[in-house]
Amino acid sequence: MHTYLVTGGAGFIGSNYIHYMFRKYGDDIRIINVDKLTYAGNLENLKDIENRSNYRFVRADICDKDAIAAIFAEEDVDRVVHFAAESHVDRSIETPEVFVQTNVLGTAVMLNSAKAAWELPDGSFKPDHKFLHVSTDEVYGSLEEDGGYFYETTPYAPHSPYSASKASSDMLVKAYMDTYKFPANITNCSNNYGPYQFPEKLIPLIINNALQGKNLPVYGDGRNVRDWLYVEDHAKAIDMVQETGRLFETYNVGGHNEKQNIEIIHIILDTLREMLPESDPRRANVSDDLITYVTDRKGHDRRYAIAPDKIKSEIGWEPETMFAEGIRKTIKWFFENEEWMKNVTSGDYEKYYDSMYSNR
Ligand code: NAD
Ligand code: TYD
Repeated sequence: MHTYLVTGGAGFIGSNYIHYMFRKYGDDIRIINVDKLTYAGNLENLKDIENRSNYRFVRADICDKDAIAAIFAEEDVDRVVHFAAESHVDRSIETPEVFVQTNVLGTAVMLNSAKAAWELPDGSFKPDHKFLHVSTDEVYGSLEEDGGYFYETTPYAPHSPYSASKASSDMLVKAYMDTYKFPANITNCSNNYGPYQFPEKLIPLIINNALQGKNLPVYGDGRNVRDWLYVEDHAKAIDMVQETGRLFETYNVGGHNEKQNIEIIHIILDTLREMLPESDPRRANVSDDLITYVTDRKGHDRRYAIAPDKIKSEIGWEPETMFAEGIRKTIKWFFENEEWMKNVTSGDYEKYYDSMYSNR
């Protein structure tokens, strides 16, 4: 039986991963979720599983060495899955230091704590103990509009403070693997979407604004391309890499679902019109006229795209959820969880939204 220390499990991908793991393994695993509960962390995301006897939540900052060491001392952790991070590019442009603190320093603390707990007197590591660092394709920089993909061999060329901090954290993991033979893997995934995503990111923000008849802000010309992956497919990839991937390897996750931002917005509007019953008053709000072109993001990467050849050929993982299906599932989830959206958009969200969008 594996005992997982999951960091950032109250966030978007982390909470989907925890749900996925309990659905898959039931009582055959134990999960300790360590999360600081920043604005992005929300225990509501985990309310269906919070009473399981094989689940424990610890509120802690990953930069707090003592708190992390205490967890390794109390629990027989043999798997770390490290999601905790500051994750939003626009915020990183406003406050880069927080990103360096959590993403770089926090990762160093996680690596060091796992190394201290798992290292044997001869410098090797306890057998079958593994660390998986969850990262992003944004570390590779930006692709030309007319071609090319990110491969595991693509040189790192991050542009935003967010991607620079994630690239730094990846480099630290690589340094631990190279220097100490620390048992780890890195996954670099493309843009995720799905349930529990905080509405600062494009897809939930557009769904939420459209339902309320609020403007749909499109940065620049709206033709930047992202390669979208349904979050459950990402959760599955992480588990498969950790259990069947070659140790010390990086795997890119994503694939062949490239869309321009403006296309995404049109798909969301069309799907909302299709799914909302005639009698629903929100139907009247959903209109193409809400689309508003605003000042571009500084240093906006043009295109991201992954060719998932390595993870497919070595591990047999492929994206399973087609975008048309994934976006319907996502919208259905938001319809059924209006309260969740209300709760996360009350309070500080309004302040964030006004400061981020009023001068665009
Ligand atoms: P998120 O912002 O939704 O969640 C981050 C979680 O980390 C939150 O629960 C937050 O409370 C927690 N956290 C932040 N700082 C912390 C700290 N100092 N100590 C402990 N917990 C802290 O992010 P997400 O979208 O779920 O992304 C999770 C991971 O996946 C990140 O490492 C991100 O870089 C990576 N990633 C995200 C995407 C994407 O599309 N969202 C794509 C590829 C990779
Ligand atoms: P985002 O969801 O922030 O993810 P990332 O920047 O990590 O790729 O943004 C996805 C794309 O959507 C990106 O090209 C920026 C664009 N975007 C908008 O046009 N308007 C918005 O309000 C937001 C949040 C993003």
